[in-house]
Amino acid sequence: MRLVDIWKMIKGLKERILNQTPESSVSARSRTDDLTKLRLRYKPYYDVFEKQVGSRVWLDGQEMVLLSSNDYLGLTDHPEVIAAGKAAFDEWGASSTGARVANGGRAYHTRLERKLADFLGREAAHVHAAGYLSCMSAVQAFARRGDLVLVDRNVHSSLWSGIRNTDARVEKFSHNRPESLAKALSYEKPETPKLLVFEGIYSMEGHIAPVREFLEVIQGHNVFTVMDDAHGLGVLGPEGRGTLHHCGANEEVDVVCGSLSKALASVGGFVAGDRALIEYLRTHSKQTLFSAAIGPCQAACAEAALEVIQREPFHHERLWTNLRRYREFLLSLGLDIWGSVTPAVPVVLGDKQKAYDFRKALMKKGVYTTMSIAPAVPPKKDLIRTSISARHTDEDLDRIFEAFTYAVKKVL
Ligand SMILES: Cc1ncc(COP(=O)(O)O)c(C=O)c1O
Repeated sequence: MRLVDIWKMIKGLKERILNQTPESSVSARSRTDDLTKLRLRYKPYYDVFEKQVGSRVWLDGQEMVLLSSNDYLGLTDHPEVIAAGKAAFDEWGASSTGARVANGGRAYHTRLERKLADFLGREAAHVHAAGYLSCMSAVQAFARRGDLVLVDRNVHSSLWSGIRNTDARVEKFSHNRPESLAKALSYEKPETPKLLVFEGIYSMEGHIAPVREFLEVIQGHNVFTVMDDAHGLGVLGPEGRGTLHHCGANEEVDVVCGSLSKALASVGGFVAGDRALIEYLRTHSKQTLFSAAIGPCQAACAEAALEVIQREPFHHERLWTNLRRYREFLLSLGLDIWGSVTPAVPVVLGDKQKAYDFRKALMKKGVYTTMSIAPAVPPKKDLIRTSISARHTDEDLDRIFEAFTYAVKKVL
């Protein structure tokens, strides 16, 4: 039986079971969940590498080029980043051990916030222990009952979590379509307080938001803007200052949030804006008030990465050189990359079975990627998600090209 048939059968079964839930307990349905069983059977996720050196990982003894990490600038093993993390452990211990309102902040928090704000061209920033918390709080802290949230339907789960935790009304508009945003706005009174929520670079699609067009559409409509630039920071704009610098629109978006776990080679997140907004967030955001602050090692690694980015522009240059070569190669094979123009490059295979087989073929040839399938992506967009990094060497690229050539021949 093919994977796709098993999938359909199980989905049907699941729907039938869910329709007769009265007798089913939370415990029973969690322990017998078909999707979990399917995942455990085919194991497309949660692989455990025994070892990593730069862009190479080892899985069950096989060395592979990692083509799915968001380490866009390849700084996770930069000597200065590692040294900064070790020094922070020595100076501050292992953890922040609590929220800053309960337990006090630390000098490493405010130092990182100052440097991040400067890099982004903002007055202030606040850092959290995860990008998910930052992005969630960047919406949840500001939106309230009576507001309308206008949101690109493809935004990340963290922004949805923020939106769904408010009592604001929500109106989705079509991904990256200013005319769809304009239509949604046209039904609303100009004086209703509104938030526009979107991303700078979309992590799955690799698309850049049409920021200037969005800003034109919302003019005069009383709209507060929140942009998640988790994948734009370190990647777009001069020195990698982000999507708003790339678009020349930094002054016009109220709040930028994002992650430290991608180009900044650490773990954590940030929200940046003018001082009054960041102080408001510190007063009202549950994720800020009631969650332990980012730890010393992670804050120090992000701070060091920020310095490296500005002092060593060749990482940024290498990222774009690698991306140009990689994109051209994929297009020369006739692959569908969903119009990606950034280092997040999906390879759309269009059905689950093909995505599964394609990934397997790449792995056989020593290239590690991940698979995203509906409903995580729209129907017929089942894909292999890849991301290119400055850390990929010419040898890595040769291996990647060879593996893709093989997978195309074998699967398509
Ligand atoms: C667009 C976007 N926003 C937010 C996040 C959350 O960031 P973190 O992984 O640091 O929690 C991610 C992570 O994948 C992301 O892709």
